[in-house]
This record gives sequence, C-alpha cells and structure tokens, in this order.
Amino acid sequence: MQQPLTARRSSAISGHVTVPGDKSISHRALILASLATGTTRIDGLLEAEDVLATARAMETLGASVKREGDALQILGRGVGGLCPPETVLDFGNSGTASRLMLGVLAGYPWRVSLTGDESLCRRPMKRVLRPLSAMGLVVEDDKDTLPLTVVGTDDLLPIIYELPVPSAQVKSAVLLAGLHAPGKTTVIEPLPTRDHTERMLRYFGAEVNVAIGEDDSRAITVTGDAELRGAHVVVPGDPSSAAFLVAAALVCPGSDLMIANILLNPTRTGFLRTLKEMGADVEILNERDAAGEPVGDLRVRSSALKGIRVAPERAPSMIDEYPILAVLAAFAEGETRMEGLGELKVKESDRLAAAAAGLAACGVAARIEGDDLIVTGAQTVRGGGSVETHMDHRIAMSFLTLGFASEEPVVVDDIRMIATSFPNFVPLMGSLGARFG
Ligand code: S3P
Repeated sequence: MQQPLTARRSSAISGHVTVPGDKSISHRALILASLATGTTRIDGLLEAEDVLATARAMETLGASVKREGDALQILGRGVGGLCPPETVLDFGNSGTASRLMLGVLAGYPWRVSLTGDESLCRRPMKRVLRPLSAMGLVVEDDKDTLPLTVVGTDDLLPIIYELPVPSAQVKSAVLLAGLHAPGKTTVIEPLPTRDHTERMLRYFGAEVNVAIGEDDSRAITVTGDAELRGAHVVVPGDPSSAAFLVAAALVCPGSDLMIANILLNPTRTGFLRTLKEMGADVEILNERDAAGEPVGDLRVRSSALKGIRVAPERAPSMIDEYPILAVLAAFAEGETRMEGLGELKVKESDRLAAAAAGLAACGVAARIEGDDLIVTGAQTVRGGGSVETHMDHRIAMSFLTLGFASEEPVVVDDIRMIATSFPNFVPLMGSLGARFG
C-alpha cells in the first residue's frame, strides 16, 4: 500500500543536527569486514534498508554481525573464506549491494541466484557482468537485469578494465573480484568516481595503487590474493542525505542550520561546489579526518540563488544530488542547465524524467534536451503538485523539500522508499521546523 505525504510551506529550518551514516561507506564496511580476518568494529553504520540488505547477504555467506551498544561487531571469514549461500540473495532496492556483491561472488566456485525489488530488477547489470565475465564469472542467463544466476570461480583472471561509464559500483565490483585473483587487477576511470572502496581496501591492509593521469583519469590497481585484517571503521554522515537539509535551509527564509560530521571526500562534494557557484551561504567548518575519510561540519543559511551551468564533468561527484539540485534550481534566478545526466536514467528510477515531471507538476518550467536538464527558476514556486516517486527515495525527499518553500502544498505519492537511505528523514525535518500533513 502506497504511503503518500504532503509537505507544506514552512518557516525557518534551523537547529543543530547530524544525519545518518554514509550509505556507500556503510556497504563497503560490511563487505570488507566480512572478507577480513578477525573482528571489525563499525561505528555510525547507516541502518537503513539498503545497507541491511548487504548485512543480511554477508550473514548468509557466513560472517557474524552482532550489535554492541551503538556499534556493530563483525567477525569476518577472510578473503576466500565465505560459505556458500543456501538461499537466493535478495538485495531489495539496492544497486550498490547487488553490484558490489557480484564482484565478491565472482571469486567463489558456487552457483548463486540474486534478486531484488521491482525497481532494482529494472536496472542494468551487464555493466558489472561484462568485466566480471572477462575475469571468469559465468552468467547463466543472457539478460541485463536481476533476477540472475551466476557461477563464480576460485581461478579468476586479473584484468585491466577501462570503465565505459563513470561508475563507482562497476569499479568496486572489479576491485573486489581482484582481491581473489592472482596478480594485479586494474580499473581505469576517465573521470574520478567515489573512491571509498580504494580507501577502505587500504585501510584494511590491501595493496592498492592509484596512478593519476594528466587528464585527471585514474588507474586503480589492487594486488590479488590479498589478506584483509579487521579494523575500526567510523562512518561519517552521508552528504547525499545532508543535501536535502541543506536545500531546505537555503530555500526556507530565515534558516540557520548546523549539520555536524559530514563526509567531505572530494569525490562526493560536487553538490557543495555547485551551491557555492549558485551563491549559497554554506560554510565548511572544523575539517578533520575520520578513519581515512575527510569530514567536517556545515553551516547553512537561507540564500538568494542564481541559475548556473553545471558541466558534465561535475556529474560523478554529485550524481545522487541532481534531483535536489533540480528543485533548488526552481528557486534560483534564471536558468540552470545541468548537463550530461545520462546516468540518471538508470538509477532507482529514471531520475531525469521523474525530476522533470515533478517540477512540471509543481508549475516549474523544466525541459530535457538529450541528457541535459534545464530548469528556469523564479522567486516564487507554485507547488500544488502531486508528484510520482517511482519507488525512488531521492525523488520523494526532493519534492517534499520543494513543498517546504512553495506557495501551495506538494503531495508525494509514496514515502516508503525513504527507509532505504534516510529512515528518520520525516521526523528529523519536522524537528527542524518543516511542516507535513
Ligand atoms: C554508489 C555509486 C553511484 C551512486 C550510488 C552509490 C556507490 O552509482 O549513484 O547511489 O556506493 O558506489 P554508480 O557507481 O552506478 O554511478
């Protein structure tokens, strides 16, 4: 049963908060902890549906995952030490969980079936199956989508693979498979994508080498037959979740919001860079390091925004933030042109179409030209729309945020998927001054 929710014009969004842990780092922490020998402690893990799918998969494969106070303790099995699953692995809504785990499973000689929900079963898998097949994974069905059955091997070949699309999930799947292969496995990426896998592999003791080209391309090499050792991981706040709070504070008048402990890895800060260019008052304070990742605090105050051009090269560093940027563009003076968004079409929904349709439903002039989204902003946004979320958490949170600052309330058709990444979004926004219902 769908669960609609209405967002209403709100006054200032103010207070001092933290947001839940970073989703990408949480998946990787669970996977590497399970592949390590000994115990890993994870503080700040995101306990949301997507990450719980990874935790369940790791337990099915023999890792022990236990709660200890606010932390999790994982007893790993060592690289090559996982146990064959006795059931189908169900990854729910999570593209990251399913694609990264295909990389892990490639290194084991088992026949494993994988599935997911309706949205995940529409998303392309060949992007990971292609390089993994070159390493030795056998895919039983010649199709691009889950459900799929694959047979791995304990005799993987190391490869050199150049990513045809900028995708941290594909890069990570190949690097994780490379842990099980002899020799060196290399992924070349023309544009840098989030590098949490590389950082965390090193943190757990693997040998990872990154060569940066003059054109900013990267060649990432992992040495196989690796040994990972349990570690203490501290997961910082998710900048992709914080983006909704930042946006709400920018567009609701009189806001002054502090968000503490946010991940500031440069491969994830494209949204903050873009906001600066739009004239947003966002300060980064207290920059520090947390278990191998840069973090800091954000102070956000309401701002008059101006429309800008966002170049395609920016996309990998803010790929999940385009729906909320499109909403901000509706409140900015002039036109915002977001270029090179082809990858948005294969996210939890076709986010390019869903964002444009949602904006149109709220009286905002938005159009798609090829892979570009062009939004014409105005000081007042009508709102009043009924927005289809297509099982997509970020579309739901983006258009609720639009409703906090539009003239008329905005209804989103279903908020259940918000639990995949940001389970306390509604109460947290409410506690800061946002109005629902
Ligand atoms: C993710 C990578 C991105 C991003 C996703 C999480 C990751 O996807 O959209 O939400 O954790 O590696 P792609 O790598 O497919 O671009």
